[in-house]
Amino acid sequence: MSSRRPTRLVAGNWKMNTSVADGLDLARALRAGLDGSGVEVEVLPPFTHLVGVRDVLRGSSLRLGAQNCYAEDKGAFTGEISPLMLADICDDVLLGHSERRHVLGESDELIARKLVAARRHGLRVILAVGETESERLEDTTMAVIDRQLRSALEKLDEVSDGELVLAYEPVWAIGTGRTATPAQAEEVCVHIVTRLDQLLGEVASSVPVLYGGSVTADNAAELFGQPHIHGALVGGASLKVDAFTAIVRAAEVATAAAEQR
Ligand code: PGA
Repeated sequence: MSSRRPTRLVAGNWKMNTSVADGLDLARALRAGLDGSGVEVEVLPPFTHLVGVRDVLRGSSLRLGAQNCYAEDKGAFTGEISPLMLADICDDVLLGHSERRHVLGESDELIARKLVAARRHGLRVILAVGETESERLEDTTMAVIDRQLRSALEKLDEVSDGELVLAYEPVWAIGTGRTATPAQAEEVCVHIVTRLDQLLGEVASSVPVLYGGSVTADNAAELFGQPHIHGALVGGASLKVDAFTAIVRAAEVATAAAEQR
């Protein structure tokens, strides 16, 4: 396994929450508390909030991402948002989130096409992968992760530093309060790191691997203490300034501790 010390990242996936006004207030509060953090901090608001949040965050260290995009640049795709539209507004786009896969029915094939389209417009992609509860019980977790990784990454020509982030999100842990244990999360993140090395070569060592699924202020430090967990994709707790701030602080402490080693 290549030696790796990628950037640590704490990203808040707001999902379909907050009015525009409340979202802008949240962004202002996060900027006030987290600008200049020693780790990367990012928010992923709904599409309707992106321009306003971009203006709130302008000039700060906080990154901005979209929660999804379509696989084409333009055309007759009613209700969709293209990566071309996002490229001037955001830094990143989240693709393959389990709610897109399992609630909205997105296939591996569609996610792969979206990834190519997003990269074509220079967006950093946060690619989410993860097994369902029944897949874990059937002992197919690693096979599912392999399939999701391979299909998403095989069509990409080349990945350079800072273009890709992975997020391991066990579906059974998302929004359920049932966080994976640090050992369970680390086991799959190690597997992801090994596969990324095989699929991407050298550049894999710069790809952060996040854990997501009921991350809270209480469990973040233990998760970040695992050597192959480089941050978190946070859902519910990202809507609360105190909880999200505490998670970022835990990532800062973990980074300082890793640098001592
Ligand atoms: P959660 O969501 O933190 O509310 O479990 C995580 C996610 O879906 O990214």
